[in-house]
Amino acid sequence: MPARLPLMYTEIAAWFTSLTAPEDYAEEADIYHAAIQQHAHGPTVTLLELGAGAGNNASHLKRHYTMTLVDLSPQMSAESRNQNPECEHLIGDMRTIRLGRAFDIVFIHDAVMYMTSSGDLERALTTAAVHCRPDGLVLVVPDFTKESFAPSTGHGGHDHPRPMRYLEWTWEPEPGADTFVTDYVYLLRMPDGTARTVYDRHICGVFDIPTWLAAFDAAGLRDARFEIVTLDSDGTPLSLFLARR
Ligand SMILES: C[S@@+](CC[C@H](N)C(=O)[O-])C[C@H]1O[C@@H](n2cnc3c(N)ncnc32)[C@H](O)[C@@H]1O
Repeated sequence: MPARLPLMYTEIAAWFTSLTAPEDYAEEADIYHAAIQQHAHGPTVTLLELGAGAGNNASHLKRHYTMTLVDLSPQMSAESRNQNPECEHLIGDMRTIRLGRAFDIVFIHDAVMYMTSSGDLERALTTAAVHCRPDGLVLVVPDFTKESFAPSTGHGGHDHPRPMRYLEWTWEPEPGADTFVTDYVYLLRMPDGTARTVYDRHICGVFDIPTWLAAFDAAGLRDARFEIVTLDSDGTPLSLFLARR
């Protein structure tokens, strides 16, 4: 369990869609929808997303699926509720939540990066498995695996709904470690024209593909496969793991 969620998901969650805007997710959401349609067996009506955050992916996928959105942060879930009032929202930890229901599809996007040990990864995939109907599909999309990881710096931000800019700095993991650090500095422009800076450390997990595939197996999911799909717009590679219950 991380000691605490990053400030971006708690104190300043209302700024999340200024860090990363819903419209920026349209192309990748289309890729996730196409992958689901290509690999699913049987109906694809209900979709559970674990770690749905502010619901940026959901704002696109909800056209195709009846979505239930789970997140650990009540503040992020509130942002998603505003954006996606037609979706069901629940607060819970992807490693432990049990809803007593099964869905056609279970999806985990970048929130899986907060699984900082192979045990946590296995627990999250077990949650996916127990909420997936027999022969249903699980789709998990980490930002990268150990094979594709590279240290980086970046910056960005938007003027709406609140003006903010950020700098991010992703560090190489210590040798042999399954975690890495991304440090952020956010510059938030306040309504009175002053600016506030916030420093935020995100501790994330990174695993090699064999560890991922073993975690799917241990979670009781079968036919696990790994695919890389590239965004047409900027060449960003997306790492897709697909498996069946
Ligand atoms: C980058 S945001 C997800 C954004 C999302 N992809 C979207 O489309 O808006 C990461 C989310 O993971 C959530 N999270 C972190 N650990 C979690 C856990 N153990 N269970 C559920 N959610 C978790 C955080 O609260 C945060 O909302």
